[in-house]
Amino acid sequence: MLTIRDLDGLRAAVAAWRAEGATIALVPTMGALHAGHIALVEAARRPGTRVIVSIFVNPKQFGPDEDLARYPRRESADVRLLAEHGCDGVWLPPVEAMYPAGFATGVTVSGVSDSFDGAARPGHFDGVATVVTKLFNQTRADIAYFGEKDFQQLAVIRRIVADLDMSVEIVGVPIQRDDDGLALSSRNIYLDDAQRAKAVALPRALGVAARAIGRGDDVEAALAEARAALHAAGFAVDYIALADAETLAESPAADRPRRLLAAARMGATRLIDNVAIEPIG
Ligand code: PAF
Repeated sequence: MLTIRDLDGLRAAVAAWRAEGATIALVPTMGALHAGHIALVEAARRPGTRVIVSIFVNPKQFGPDEDLARYPRRESADVRLLAEHGCDGVWLPPVEAMYPAGFATGVTVSGVSDSFDGAARPGHFDGVATVVTKLFNQTRADIAYFGEKDFQQLAVIRRIVADLDMSVEIVGVPIQRDDDGLALSSRNIYLDDAQRAKAVALPRALGVAARAIGRGDDVEAALAEARAALHAAGFAVDYIALADAETLAESPAADRPRRLLAAARMGATRLIDNVAIEPIG
């Protein structure tokens, strides 16, 4: 496995893999890798494919009061794990290479990025859109894999690719969960034992609400019940909402694929999760 820190090295590796006829797959990450990331790598590993995992804690997607400074960084452990899982190259760009002095371009996606996490974290999706566009250009990937836990992020990235006529194929990979149902996240390590025990209320509340909405119960009542369950467990709720699974518009028709989305804070730790709801009728 190649460990690559400069753009010329990345381009040379990609050119060599292309010369052997390989498809280039990209798994963008911010490191602190867990089984959720490994599921992306496993999905990307296909005969005739070279898999690049990028590890870059992107300062542009963190707000001024967010956890950029304490975001977990575990480069050596991450690199070892990726080598064990058949990754072909790890792309580790330094911040100065990604955003050199004079960097002045940003990618903004309106509509799909305006609500939910976009409203709760102003500028977050501009940062994501900008870095992901750069990663696509740097790697010239044919296909890229993203976790469905960041469901709105996935919708934003699909929008960029469609709007900017990019040829990269985007694949969403189902959420990986702990045995009790908590979605895997690099931020779960912020939770102490008591908070971790209470955090399971998030997938449980979503599951109960999703089943109720899926059988046609009143949506507002189901959301209110979920909100109450989260408050009772000690969460401060940023949002819990039902959205169209493609456009993320609220109040979706019941015959459309829908997604129940939530973000809630347990102490200083912000967790997000979501559940699919099949169309009715
Ligand atoms: O999902 C993440 O880890 C990040 O938002 C991403 C896509 C790697 C962009 O920094």
